[in-house]
Amino acid sequence: MKGVIFAEMVRWIEQAFSPAVADAVITRSRIPGDGVYTTVGNYPHEEALAMMGALADLSGEAVSSLADSYGYWLASRFMELYPEMFEGYTDAVTFLRDVDGQHHREVTKLYPDARTPSIVVIIDGEELTVSYGSHRPFADVAYGLVRGYIDYYGDGLEVIRDPGAPGPHAARFLVRVPSRPTSPLPAD
Ligand code: HEM
Repeated sequence: MKGVIFAEMVRWIEQAFSPAVADAVITRSRIPGDGVYTTVGNYPHEEALAMMGALADLSGEAVSSLADSYGYWLASRFMELYPEMFEGYTDAVTFLRDVDGQHHREVTKLYPDARTPSIVVIIDGEELTVSYGSHRPFADVAYGLVRGYIDYYGDGLEVIRDPGAPGPHAARFLVRVPSRPTSPLPAD
């Protein structure tokens, strides 16, 4: 997986926890290279899993919740790193619809050895289903990314993760207008 995802993970740990925690994670996860990742380099995704595991041990938080938080944070980092990919978008639905056909395609032009996940979007009226599939187990990161973009565009949509999706290599997210609370019955 591209070094940018690892380098940003280290950066996220430094910011969300502390530089000392990031150092401890790198030591504890026994990754080669002391946590130095170049953006264009390619590294085994197991190193990212090892870092998340070490952070879970140190922080007491579950790996799934950490990976989700990292994805949420990464959503805004991608805007700083690849601003041209966000030009012209004013809503989350249109942006998410274009991830597979546009943004991840641009990623593979920038980094020809990238193997981006599949992000299939089906729009049905006002509802959107975003399906993630990958040979890598990063469904929780995908969840955070989807939530991050929904919050960024401020459409007020809710994201419901399908609990039936099989394992960390696949996930399905229902993105929709929040259902209104049912109004109380008028009192007699
Ligand atoms: C403009 C926005 C985006 C950019 C620039 C971007 C960029 C990237 C890059 C550079 C990678 C590494 C690929 C590799 O090493 O093979 C990646 C992987 C990934 N992307 Fe995106 N991405 C974007 C949007 C999204 C969105 C909206 C989602 C979720 C729906 C998503 C889900 C993922 C996941 C989960 C991975 C980790 C690798 C895997 O699971 O196979 N990305 N992305």
